[in-house]
Amino acid sequence: MNDKPVVLIIFGTRPEAIKLFPVVHALRARQDVKVRVLVTGQHRQMLDQVLEIGEIAPDHDLNVMAPDQTLDSLTAKLLTGIGAVMDAEKPARVIVQGDTATAMVGALAAYYRKIPVSHVEAGLRSYNIYQPWPEEVNRKIIGTIADQHFAPTDVSAAALRAEAVPGIGIYVTGNTVIDALHWVTAKIETHPELASGLSEYEARFAGKRIIGVTTHRRENFGEGMENIASALEQIAVREDVAIIFPVHLNPNVRKVMDARLGANSNIAMIEPLDYPHFARLLAISHIMLTDSGGVQEEAPALGKPVLVMRDRTERPEGVTAGTAKLVGTDKDRIISEIFTLLDDEAAYSTMARAHNPFGDGKAAIRIAGLVADACR
Ligand code: UD1
Ligand code: UDP
Repeated sequence: MNDKPVVLIIFGTRPEAIKLFPVVHALRARQDVKVRVLVTGQHRQMLDQVLEIGEIAPDHDLNVMAPDQTLDSLTAKLLTGIGAVMDAEKPARVIVQGDTATAMVGALAAYYRKIPVSHVEAGLRSYNIYQPWPEEVNRKIIGTIADQHFAPTDVSAAALRAEAVPGIGIYVTGNTVIDALHWVTAKIETHPELASGLSEYEARFAGKRIIGVTTHRRENFGEGMENIASALEQIAVREDVAIIFPVHLNPNVRKVMDARLGANSNIAMIEPLDYPHFARLLAISHIMLTDSGGVQEEAPALGKPVLVMRDRTERPEGVTAGTAKLVGTDKDRIISEIFTLLDDEAAYSTMARAHNPFGDGKAAIRIAGLVADACR
């Protein structure tokens, strides 16, 4: 009979998988807990890419993804599906990460069963419930339910303390994304073929400075996406730059970007990259232009200036350090900020400093120890 406490780790999207596979590895290396992995399949292809590279075989897969589904439908499916797995597994503790629908509903389902929740990447706040939407509120809901809060930085820990968050503890652990980046970088060193798939673009764009682009925020759908496409069109007119843009699978992103930019020879519109190839894109890019959360954390760690297509961020550390800058989604502002970095060497070198406000690569080990202690 196995009477070790069960820790149920729940995730469903690409960024959660990237940030939780190091935690799964660290907990599996321990003898004192039994690890069970529940993936919701909120993302499908983009989740599966990470499961494969991160060497995770889930114990449960709810496969909830449907094309362009509403937040209502997604949330409803998640709640009944996650609840049923909890009833079967009877975990001693649940781990969720970040701010997605999967994470919020995972915490809620645990609360409905009075199962304690550990929150990885706790305490990020933009102080505007519509930017990012719905992530800011998801994070606050999880913060109210969780009793263990793993804040990546002192800034996020302070935000939780200021809210008088209840629970057994707020811990500054670093962000597990840095663990994931170190892990994948080491893996690429021993298996370079894992990241060699961009060589076609590297050859085609030889001598040009690469701008790596990602976008997918809900609050940027519609006008924001059109503005971003217009800015990219104008930037791509320059002969000294090329754009590599792995396009998120959300149809609200694809329909605009494919129509506007698909035929542009100076823009490589490509499918979402698996994590080793995205790490390679970060390495070869001169500048990252993004509205992603995770990319705001990875780019500073690699000394890549990151222009953030948002008006607010819940990750102010990169901005404070000068390696990230908020540029919003105004077309002219995006173009002028990119051109400044391309044409003003001093401006570029001020931003291009390797800087690691988000962690030292040992967050997952810390988190695994704290979770196991809490299960005793
Ligand atoms: C979700 C998260 C967001 C996170 C982002 C990371 C919520 C509400 N949103 O946004 O916080 O920053 O993931 O990327 O939790 N799709 C596919 N294949 C995939 C993934 C998505 O086809 O592998 C398409 C589907 O049509 C799906 C749609 O994208 O319905 C939207 O997916 P969803 O997870 O609801 O929202 P994201 O925009 O991906
Ligand atoms: N990423 C990836 N392939 C891509 C684009 C991004 O592996 O084509 C990784 C990236 O390195 C980061 C994470 O996905 O770790 C960010 O995910 P996303 O931007 O979808 O979500 P967010 O972080 O904004 O929630």
